Amino acid sequence: MQRTSTVAATRQALDHARAEGGTVGLVPTMGYLHPGHASLIERAAAECDVTAVTIFVNPLQFAPGEDLDAYPRDLAGDAALAEGCGADLLFVPPIEEMYAEPTLTTVDVAELAAHLEGITRPTHLRGVATAVAKLFNIAGPCRAYFGEKDFQQLAVVRRMALDLSFPVEVVGCPTVREPDGLALSSRNAYLSPAERAAAPVLHWALVVGAAAVAAGERHPAAVRGLVGDLIAAEPLADLDYAEVVDAATLASVEPLAGELRILAAARFGRARLIDNVAVLAH
Ligand code: PAF
Repeated sequence: MQRTSTVAATRQALDHARAEGGTVGLVPTMGYLHPGHASLIERAAAECDVTAVTIFVNPLQFAPGEDLDAYPRDLAGDAALAEGCGADLLFVPPIEEMYAEPTLTTVDVAELAAHLEGITRPTHLRGVATAVAKLFNIAGPCRAYFGEKDFQQLAVVRRMALDLSFPVEVVGCPTVREPDGLALSSRNAYLSPAERAAAPVLHWALVVGAAAVAAGERHPAAVRGLVGDLIAAEPLADLDYAEVVDAATLASVEPLAGELRILAAARFGRARLIDNVAVLAH
């Protein structure tokens, strides 16, 4: 596996792969890789000739007071995991390689980024879109793989690629879960044993919400209330939001109809966790 830390070397390697007739798969990450990331890398490696994994803890997507400095890191472990999953290139840029100081140009995906995560973290998805736009420009034409665990991020990145005509096919991949339902996340590392035991309530509340919709519930407020109350009943959970939206547009739907996504966010101690499930309202 080739390792790069500069934009120029990364571009050169991926341009070379395409010039040889190969296709490029891109897996953008912030490192501290887990089996959820492994599933993205393995899928990219299975579907593309050359797979590039990027590790960049992107300061632009953290607000002051969030966990930028504490964000878990393990470059040696990440390199071993990426290579074992079939990555051909690992791009680990230093901050100054990614951002000129000050950063004047950012990417806003307007109302798609303004609700859900955008209410508690108003600058977060702008930071994500800006970093991902840069990674798309650096990688060039490719298929880019993102997990559905960050469902709003996936929608924002898809829309950005469409709006800005990036030559990138955005591929959403299923969430990987622990046996008790907890979605894998680098931030699970922050959970104390008691918080870890409590955290699967996030997933199970969503599953209960989806079952209610599948059984005929068509009032979004009822689904929000059901999911939110289940999470809030867990003493170690501090509910941020529970929402049900159209899966493609992330817009509110009333009465509930079509392909929907139920999403929730809650804090468990230092860890702010998010999750979502799909449900169809016939
Ligand atoms: O999901 C992540 O790890 C990050 O938000 C991403 C997409 C790598 C952008 O920094």
